[in-house]
Amino acid sequence: MAIILDGKALAAKCKQEVKKEAESLARTPGLAVIIVGNNPASRVYVNSKRKDCEECGFLSEEYALPEETTQGELISLIQQLNVREDIDGILCQLPLPDGIDEEAVLMAISPEKDVDGFHPMNMGALLVGKEGFLPCTPYGIMEILKEYDIDPKGKRCVVIGRSNIVGKPMALLLLQKHGTVTICHSRTQNLAEICRTADILVAAVGKVNMVTADMVKPGAVVIDVAMNRNEAGKLCGDVDYPAVKELAWAITPVPGGVGPMTRAMLMKNTLLSAQKRQG
Ligand code: GUN
Repeated sequence: MAIILDGKALAAKCKQEVKKEAESLARTPGLAVIIVGNNPASRVYVNSKRKDCEECGFLSEEYALPEETTQGELISLIQQLNVREDIDGILCQLPLPDGIDEEAVLMAISPEKDVDGFHPMNMGALLVGKEGFLPCTPYGIMEILKEYDIDPKGKRCVVIGRSNIVGKPMALLLLQKHGTVTICHSRTQNLAEICRTADILVAAVGKVNMVTADMVKPGAVVIDVAMNRNEAGKLCGDVDYPAVKELAWAITPVPGGVGPMTRAMLMKNTLLSAQKRQG
């Protein structure tokens, strides 16, 4: 039976530390969250971000814009927030309604306030190993590995998924820590065979039970990034958890694994921005 990597407990600890550090600043860190339209999942995420800000003692501002909002109006709001002294982080909840160019919106956020780490400037900084905001999910996963003394150095790491938000930055962070990294995706041939070589396996696909026990090397570390619902409506990840936890050395649960750490790293990035902006 695997060690359960408790992201929920670690997130609570991280947020406590963030709160303590924020208290020593002259000005409270401020996060602005923009949500456009009525996506119910986005609403849940935005509500939880507000709660996290309260927990950390941050100023939190929410901009709930109607579905009909134009790209111009959205970018104009971002430009106002970019120059606000009291706002350290700006997050525009994705996905955006049809007709709004997500890339143009993300590019409009000042890289200095891009606490999601989605701006090409921050992505590029990660690629070349320069300082910048790290995307919260891969950042949170690296913190889980660190907490449990799991060192990617020299290990075979396999990431399933190549999104800009998770797969690609995850692979870069593991590489930065000297892992030997393979990225798999929907066109990968012999996926199971490649996954079985992994000492550290990260699944970020969004498909229930796509990682089965035969794809996991006994003794591997398994990180499940996904948030799916099974036929019974129960929250679950990409990994066949009951079977895989019997042969892995360590595994993240869903819920209670990566998700809470993603949220905690948003608070951490907002703190880092505030510290930097206050010199
Ligand atoms: N939609 C789903 N996850 C995220 C996230 O981490 N950041 C933003 N901005 N939108 C999301």
